[in-house]
Amino acid sequence: MNLGILVSGRGSNLQAIIDAIEKGKLKSQIALVISNKEGVQALERCLKHGIPYKVIKRKAFSSKEEFEEAMVKALKEASVDFVILAGFMLVLSETFLRAFPMKVVNIHPSLIPAFQGLNAQRQALDYGAKITGCSLHFVTDELDNGPVIAQACVPVLPEDTEEILSERILAYEHRILPQVIKWLEEGRVKVEGRRVIVEGAKYGSLPFNPSLEDF
Ligand code: GRF
Repeated sequence: MNLGILVSGRGSNLQAIIDAIEKGKLKSQIALVISNKEGVQALERCLKHGIPYKVIKRKAFSSKEEFEEAMVKALKEASVDFVILAGFMLVLSETFLRAFPMKVVNIHPSLIPAFQGLNAQRQALDYGAKITGCSLHFVTDELDNGPVIAQACVPVLPEDTEEILSERILAYEHRILPQVIKWLEEGRVKVEGRRVIVEGAKYGSLPFNPSLEDF
């Protein structure tokens, strides 16, 4: 499976995918990384690991449509099968999504539908939630709210800061993201409306995080 990965910053989720591939846990290859920003850490990771990348900036185009068409062209030229949004900070429109129908997945640092949009960890703290987590979902035209493939939860502790809570969630992001890619590689992910069924997944195997397997 050829992966296209869209990033905007640090790229720790990109690194989790690179690590899983380099350890032989995933058969996929990263065909192309696209960053909408220059000079970000995600691109340093590409250089270090010999991964092809392109910087495609929104402001280089007069319309969002042209910007998204340029990304689609680059991803199609790289024969990408699935697109992973790994900390990509722009919202994609129909122009992009119709080129990869139900082939775009996003990682979001909350248990959706709670705390959609920006600063999800801050939102969970401010709300006083006692549990939050992360979600891997298909991207549709609803922001941070497509069909959920996997979620993992973490406690919100009284002394948490946004940074501490984000770190706790991130450890699970790095775990469920390669897990979901593996499920996609194996063709085990079936979508029925809003419901996603992963054939043969060990649902219920881990208390607290029922859709995770050992990975
Ligand atoms: C992650 O928390 C991800 O859930 C969110 O943006 C952050 C990106 O982190 N969408 P990184 O760039 O993968 O380190």
